[in-house]
Amino acid sequence: MINPKLPYIWYGGDYNPEQWDKEVWKEDVRLFKLAHINIATVNVFSWALLQPSEDTYDFSMLDEIIDNLWKNGIYICLATSTASQPHWMSVKYPEILPVDINGDKRVHGGRVNFCPNSKIYRYFSGKLVEKLAERYANHPAVLVWHIANEYGTYCYCDNCAKRFRDWLKRKYGTLEELNKRWYTTFWSQTIYDWNEITAPTLRSVMFQHWWTGKLSTVAQGMVLDYYRFMSEIILECYLNEYNIIKKYNPNIPITTNLMGTFKPLNYFEWAKHMDVVSWDSYPYLTDDYISIAFRHSLMRGLKQGEPFMLMEQTPSQTNWQPYCYIKRPKVMRLQSYQAVAQGADTVMFFQLRQSRGGPEKFHGAVISHAGHENTRVFQEVKQLGEELKNLGDILLGGKVKSQTAVIFDWENWWALENSQGPSTAINYVGGVESYFRALFENLMGVDVIGIEDNLEKYKVVVAPLLYMIRKETAEKIKEYVKKGGIFITTTLSGLVDENDLVYLGGYPAPLRDLLGIWVEEFDALPPEMKNEIQITDEFKKEFSKEAYECNLVFDVIHFEKDTAKAIGVYTKDYYKGQPVITVNKYGDGYAYYVGSFASHEFLKDLIKYISKAHHIEPLFKDVPYGVEITQRVKNNKVFTFVLNHTEEAKRINIGNRKKDLISGKIYEGEIEIPPREVLILEE
Ligand code: GLA
Ligand code: ZN
Repeated sequence: MINPKLPYIWYGGDYNPEQWDKEVWKEDVRLFKLAHINIATVNVFSWALLQPSEDTYDFSMLDEIIDNLWKNGIYICLATSTASQPHWMSVKYPEILPVDINGDKRVHGGRVNFCPNSKIYRYFSGKLVEKLAERYANHPAVLVWHIANEYGTYCYCDNCAKRFRDWLKRKYGTLEELNKRWYTTFWSQTIYDWNEITAPTLRSVMFQHWWTGKLSTVAQGMVLDYYRFMSEIILECYLNEYNIIKKYNPNIPITTNLMGTFKPLNYFEWAKHMDVVSWDSYPYLTDDYISIAFRHSLMRGLKQGEPFMLMEQTPSQTNWQPYCYIKRPKVMRLQSYQAVAQGADTVMFFQLRQSRGGPEKFHGAVISHAGHENTRVFQEVKQLGEELKNLGDILLGGKVKSQTAVIFDWENWWALENSQGPSTAINYVGGVESYFRALFENLMGVDVIGIEDNLEKYKVVVAPLLYMIRKETAEKIKEYVKKGGIFITTTLSGLVDENDLVYLGGYPAPLRDLLGIWVEEFDALPPEMKNEIQITDEFKKEFSKEAYECNLVFDVIHFEKDTAKAIGVYTKDYYKGQPVITVNKYGDGYAYYVGSFASHEFLKDLIKYISKAHHIEPLFKDVPYGVEITQRVKNNKVFTFVLNHTEEAKRINIGNRKKDLISGKIYEGEIEIPPREVLILEE
């Protein structure tokens, strides 16, 4: 449990009473109680109120806010307010303000607008946190700390460049080594003095790609190191606050709100320093339930499957999206249960009362501008609150059942997308998600794991687009397969080392032995120029179609070992008849290679074939698209979440008698699940 003081699914969210008169606060708690809200996240953006000038601190309002909630039985997620420093501070100490990628010094405004290296920022944020911790760390209402808010702004100032040089000195020791690793003989970039190294901006080695407009670089090795450095430096800001809070009370868990597939920060590294992962889920209208599940699984994977906090979701609209769609009736409830199914032990909103002004005035909230409980959104929030309260602690701490995993690696993401060539259409997140989707739709139970995680507990591990691979990782994967694991990897995998230097001797050099193949060259064509995967005779009966589409990248593959075979070959072009999908027996296991971007239809059938060939039973069978089945296990007891994400009733067979925890009804055999309905079946 995140904090056993509140043995329920935590229900509430961001609450900003400083925007309102105290009269309104009374009404707030009346409505919170009505909706069964048991936690409020406060003090997210109050620094300017807490510290009106350099020598004055004023906690009187925060005292009152906390008292008002606590005397009404509502717990606190206490934020530190350090995402947005006061205006006077930026003016008095301009070193706090960051320099952006254009090389322009920022002026005060907005949020997360500080240089993570600024000593002044660290000093003042630390001092504020010290005062907050002194005052509230032992307050009975405080369940969890929420440091800053959505970290992620990179800085390119001279201070950052200076620390980058120190970081590089520690990492490489000598300039000779750095020049070698950065491959600076290319284009006459040899560095003779450490001071020649500056931050990579659009004035130096970054540029906007002439074709896509995307940020790109001519200094792969350097930029990769800068991303690593920035992720680490920003983490230091978090740790600065973390260590202060811990001094006052080591028992209260500490988190900061993450953002799913957010590129600037290596969240696997961050999670090592978080007591509990929390994240903000704001799906686009175009994201289906599998995309949402993918992000939840990634956030769950950051701490190897430990329950996480859904820190924010909107009860209805999201103001910053291009089209602020309304979550249709029952969708908020459905997505909340989906988060719980995927491992969340909290359901929290941004925000509890809708702001009157500012950019978020049209962001959804539990209490809308109407100001009372007679709204659709409030009534739905209230119903869910009642249900969650009735669930008590039965699900808390339960682990999601998964027998397969896909690897997600931030450093690889940076490296792959910074590479010029082979194609501007490559999207790492989309690539990983496509394999997650195929496993998910086959009901295999899927985790998203990091590159350092243990593979042994999974029957199948997929590493899509693992372009950058360390030798140790390649060895770990080989060990896993040798002992009987099933491994799948794809085109653009195993190509470069941690400095983006190509492994020589035929691609993908560190994985050739495992895959039993070598790739001589890879063709890249515009997305609309497709080829086909023709299933070979031996495998024909295992696939539902004879040929499937593929596009973007086309590996020209040769066999190196006679244990390797082709499952599919190209039907067109000069590589017609050459393998595109291969399998190799290696030790007691098998390694599959997908040498192109294969259609979803193919990936789904491939996973189906693999599960059959290697006797891996799906968690459930015959479940139509749109119905999610996810299981959480606690004390050997399985809870099966059945979520109908569609607008139509769907039928599935649930086997023997089971009780639905939400309605208390007993179900058996084939059942109908109404549109957007949820069951939590207890064995
Ligand atoms: C983020 C932030 C919140 C708020 C919401 C609006 O997740 O953490 O402060 O701005 O977005 O969607
Ligand atoms: Zn800086």
